[in-house]
Amino acid sequence: MKIGIVGVGTIGTFLIRELKNEPQFTLVAVADIDSDLAVRVLVENGYPESLLVPLKDFPEDTDVYIEAAAASVAGEVAKFVLERGKTAIIASIGGLGETDQFRVIADRTGGRLILPSGAIAGLDALKAIPAESITKVVLKTSKPAATLADAKYVQGQGIKTLELTEPACVFSGTAREAAGAFPRSINVASALAHGTVGLDKTMVEVWADPASDRNRHSIRVESGHGILIMDVSNVPFEENPRTSRLAAYSILATVRGLTKSIIVGT
Ligand SMILES: NC(=O)c1ccc[n+]([C@@H]2O[C@H](COP(=O)([O-])OP(=O)(O)OC[C@H]3O[C@@H](n4cnc5c(N)ncnc54)[C@H](O)[C@@H]3O)[C@@H](O)[C@H]2O)c1
Repeated sequence: MKIGIVGVGTIGTFLIRELKNEPQFTLVAVADIDSDLAVRVLVENGYPESLLVPLKDFPEDTDVYIEAAAASVAGEVAKFVLERGKTAIIASIGGLGETDQFRVIADRTGGRLILPSGAIAGLDALKAIPAESITKVVLKTSKPAATLADAKYVQGQGIKTLELTEPACVFSGTAREAAGAFPRSINVASALAHGTVGLDKTMVEVWADPASDRNRHSIRVESGHGILIMDVSNVPFEENPRTSRLAAYSILATVRGLTKSIIVGT
């Protein structure tokens, strides 16, 4: 399976390190606006610098494209890959907006758009429940206060998270609004929305917690088939505290899953 990666930051570097010793995968191209960083990562992992090319120059026979760059390019990457009839795994889910436009292309070309569970748990069960039976989807995300200090939305509200002495709610709204307010950190709200009742009916709260060093996501879903409560408390990457280690492992599991003959828990 030929893999291309857009964005060689925290998640991209993790994937390159993890996949390089797995013979079923071949890294064929990477793209990043920070070419020094990308070259360093390639060389450190034993790959030639020549793998760094713009997305449009990724080899035509690249099977799977992983976007781990930024919300601003997620839609562009998804469209490009789907037009080629290939598989796109998008990490920056909040940048996609509605998925209908991608379905139209995928239906025409045979491409596939995969949105990994990322930093949350339970999408397997939520996908299984008929969406029309779901009456309530609520996500409460709590991040270390320092992680949210430079978020433009929070600054715009005049909230100084570094001065908090107790947890404070810094955002309350729909998943669509959350994606706009936090383009760099609340992808889980969009993933949850796409797996359940959509961006406008999924309700989100974001909290800044001065005493925590974890990214915590508490989900409650009520439906005619029961109540599901999921609570994950994730260890962030040291190099990028906005990103939980589970998110990178989730993408790795998604890539590995594409080659598996036995699939557990979907
Ligand atoms: N789905 C989830 O649960 C989840 C969890 C964590 C992070 N994410 C998202 O995944 C993405 C990557 O996260 P990360 O922690 O690796 O971020 P990061 O900042 O460590 O790395 C991002 C990399 O992408 C590069 N980049 C930025 N804009 C680019 C562009 N236009 N074209 C090519 N490269 C570009 C940067 O130079 C950087 O090297 C982010 O958008 C983040 O919000 C999703």
